[in-house]
This record gives sequence, structure tokens and C-alpha cells, in this order.
Amino acid sequence: MFKTSIGTNILQAIQFLKEGEIVAIPTETVYGLAANALNSNAVAKIFEAKNRPHFDPLIVHLKSVDEIKKYAQNIPETAYTLAQKFMPGPLTMLLPKQNIIPNLVTSGLEKVGLRIPNHQLTLQLLNNLDFPLAAPSANPFGYISPTTAKHVAAQLNGKIPYILDGGSCGIGVESTIVEPTENKIIVHRLGGVSLEELKENFTDVVLNLNHTSNPMSSGQLLSHYAPKKRLIFTNSVESEIQLNAILNIAVITFYTTTYSGAKVFPLSINKDLNEAAANLFNTMRVLDNSDFDLIIAEHFPEHGLGRAINDRLKRASYR
Ligand code: TXA
Ligand code: MG
Repeated sequence: MFKTSIGTNILQAIQFLKEGEIVAIPTETVYGLAANALNSNAVAKIFEAKNRPHFDPLIVHLKSVDEIKKYAQNIPETAYTLAQKFMPGPLTMLLPKQNIIPNLVTSGLEKVGLRIPNHQLTLQLLNNLDFPLAAPSANPFGYISPTTAKHVAAQLNGKIPYILDGGSCGIGVESTIVEPTENKIIVHRLGGVSLEELKENFTDVVLNLNHTSNPMSSGQLLSHYAPKKRLIFTNSVESEIQLNAILNIAVITFYTTTYSGAKVFPLSINKDLNEAAANLFNTMRVLDNSDFDLIIAEHFPEHGLGRAINDRLKRASYR
């Protein structure tokens, strides 16, 4: 057990990380649960605190593009183009790992996920460390990712010594995970970099989102990012409300503000999908901790960050 503190004290965070402890850190996507990526003992504490199965590999967070070649090898040219366009930013690249990355980090896989978070406080932290940070989202395995320091504390209180508070995450959904090869970009998880942005830069972008029998990516599991309450993800909100009329229902919408027979929670009355993404996980948490019996979520437009929103809602609804 730890006495968990929350604050903006970078020196404190540095000290814990250097001692091989785990610290929750802010990023532009969601909060991460970080440890020295080169120290297996420290990394093992992440799996323990999260209750995370060891088959599920961790993303390694770097301070700069220059660092990529320290931890990856046989890097295709497409990776450099991706790095130049999207890093720092909500993009994770899977690249063949150097031996210095412990097998525990990649769950024994040949490739390591590398990302440069675009968050001032965490970049400052990384710049003061001589090792990169392995960090999954800072939530118990399978639950909704945290987008504030309070969300982290709500579930990991007592399990970690420190939460570095960098405010609310600006993007609010996890990074897009891609595997660059010589001639194409394989997308393993939809996230903060939209498919449209990738396609603007590469002609061959292919999706590989649902290999659940052997999950390369926990974000590919059918049930993930899930609240404890039942969540129905549907195109026909009105008929679901009618079918469940005896229940106290909350509806998550893009911008619609009323449905009779339910309380409505629009994610962006300005019809802005980026704003909607930033509000998604907080709204899911608020509703999960409320008196509603049932959450109904409507389908979002299938473009921009709407795709990542739909992906998360679909997995949240799976039983
Ligand atoms: O935005 C994000 O990516 C956040 C912040 C904290 O950086 N991190 C995050 O981590 O979402 P996590 O562990 O919750 O999800 C990362 C996903 C996992 O599903 C994992 O399986 C996949 O990345 N992943 C990591 N390394 C991999 C690898 N070597 N091969 C295949 N998948 C990998
Ligand atoms: Mg996660």
C-alpha cells in the first residue's frame, strides 16, 4: 500500500521513477501508468497495479524522434515520414525492437510500440530522465481510460505513490496504433490521429482492427473500455428507450439534446467530433457512477475522431 499523492511536482515524479516505482502521468490522449521501460522489475509493477494480463504489451514513451533508433531497428522509411508528420502526437508506431527493451514490455513480441506524447509536463519529465517510460492507460484492465488525475485516483489510490497532475487530456481517446512497413501502414487501433490524416500522407493504409483470438492489442478485445453498467450502442435510440421504458435511462449523443423518456448527455453541442472525443470517457465515468440503470449511446459519424469514438462505444457495449 502507498499513500498516493497528486500534484505537479516533477522532481517528485522523477525521484519515484528513478527508484523503480510507478507514477501516473498525463498525456494528450489519456493518463498513463509509467515506469522505467528498461527495468523489468519496475515494469512488472505496472502489470500488478493494473491487474493486466502479461500477454498485453506496453507502449514505450520517448522524449524525441531522435530516440526512435535507440529502441527500434530495421526502421522503414515510412516510419520516418510518420514521425515527421505526427510526432509528438497521438500516434504509436510498432517497430522491430532493440534488445535493450525487455521482453516483458512487448510480451515477448518482436515489435515494440513507440510514441512521443504531446504533453508539456510529461515531455519535461522525459527530458529529465535517461530512460524511456513504459506506460499503458492508468486504469484497471478493461475499464474506461482516465482523462483526469482524479479518474486515476478513483481507481489506483493506494496502489501507486504519485499522480502527476497535468489537467484534463485534450484529445481524450488513446493513440492510433500503426505498424509501418516498407510500402504500407497497417492500423491496429483507431485513435487520436484520424484515418483521414493518415490517408492524406500515405496511399496504402490498411485496417487490422479485430484480431481477437490472439490479441496483438488489448484495444482489439471485443470487450474493453467498458463501464460496469449496461451500455447499448445503437442506431435507433428511440426504440431502445421504448423497449427499456421502465428503466432510468441516460443517452450519450453527439449533439442532440432531448429524447423523451431519457436524460440526454450530448458530447458536443457544437457538433465538433474532437470535442466529443475529449468528453467521451469522462461522461462514461460520470454515468457509470450515477443512478441511471442503463446507458444508451448513439452511433457517431464515421469520420475523423468519430471512428475512434464508435470503436470505444462498441467495445464498451460488448457483453
Ligand atoms: O494513448 C495511448 O496510447 C495511451 C497513453 C498512456 O500513451 N496508452 C495506451 O496504452 O492506450 P494501453 O496499454 O492501454 O494500450 C496500448 C495498446 C495495447 O492494446 C497493447 O496491446 C498495444 O498497444 N501494444 C503495445 N505494444 C504493442 C506491440 N509491441 N505489439 C502490438 N500491440 C502493442
Ligand atoms: Mg488501455
